[in-house]
Amino acid sequence: MNKDVDIEHWSRFADEWTTWARAPDHDAFWAYRASLLAFIGRGAGEALDVGCGEGRVSRVLKDCGYQVTAIDPVERLIKAAEQAGSADTYKVAAAADLPFEDHRFDLAVAYNVLMDIEDVPGALKEIRRVLRPLGTLVISIVHPFADRGRFAGPEADAPFILQKSYFGRERFEGTEARNGLQMHFAGWSQPLESYMAALESAQFAVTSLREPVPDAKDRDSRMERWNKVPLFLWLKARILPI
Ligand SMILES: C[S@@+](CC[C@H](N)C(=O)[O-])C[C@H]1O[C@@H](n2cnc3c(N)ncnc32)[C@H](O)[C@@H]1O
Repeated sequence: MNKDVDIEHWSRFADEWTTWARAPDHDAFWAYRASLLAFIGRGAGEALDVGCGEGRVSRVLKDCGYQVTAIDPVERLIKAAEQAGSADTYKVAAAADLPFEDHRFDLAVAYNVLMDIEDVPGALKEIRRVLRPLGTLVISIVHPFADRGRFAGPEADAPFILQKSYFGRERFEGTEARNGLQMHFAGWSQPLESYMAALESAQFAVTSLREPVPDAKDRDSRMERWNKVPLFLWLKARILPI
């Protein structure tokens, strides 16, 4: 399998994603947005949104006070981000080949993007190159544990079932349908240790780790379950001095 399979996937489903991601309170993102803003924190300087999609994370970064550059390998998504005024600058680019000079950014954010990249160490090394030495990398991934199991039903107390092993790396593909919308997801599922190994090989050290729960106002039955098992894993990492 070559690594463009992910870009191909997102090119194919770009419009579907834009509709899914922008529907008010539809995607889980909205139940965590306030916590994400708090985790990133207010800042100044230049931020890079890696794999910006239609631009919702760029808009969070703008709200945090950053000057934002948004990149995504899918032209249609970059256009959607631009049409919504999400960032200050836009480029069609993949994480492994960033069209920026060394040490340009104070902050890089890869929000639910590393699961869509086959060569995570390669992408992280390139992100390290464009970060300032004291810059911060913020990562969100679907929690590797949540990724491997599923709730037995929609009710808040449904048991969480892990059918396969937590360990190992595998490709996932699936469709989610809800409230008249659907989204085709695909990517790579791997345990936390693989992400840590990728960070280590790119010479990043993790400085913060969060397992966020949905914001209180979003504790409806669909999201309530995610108070039992973490849906997302958030990390902050800094470049290790060489
Ligand atoms: C789940 S979406 C997340 C989009 C955005 N970060 C958000 O949370 O709204 C995954 C994004 O990763 C992008 N992507 C796929 N392969 C990529 C790569 N090699 N480098 C950077 N982004 C990539 C896709 O085009 C898509 O926009």
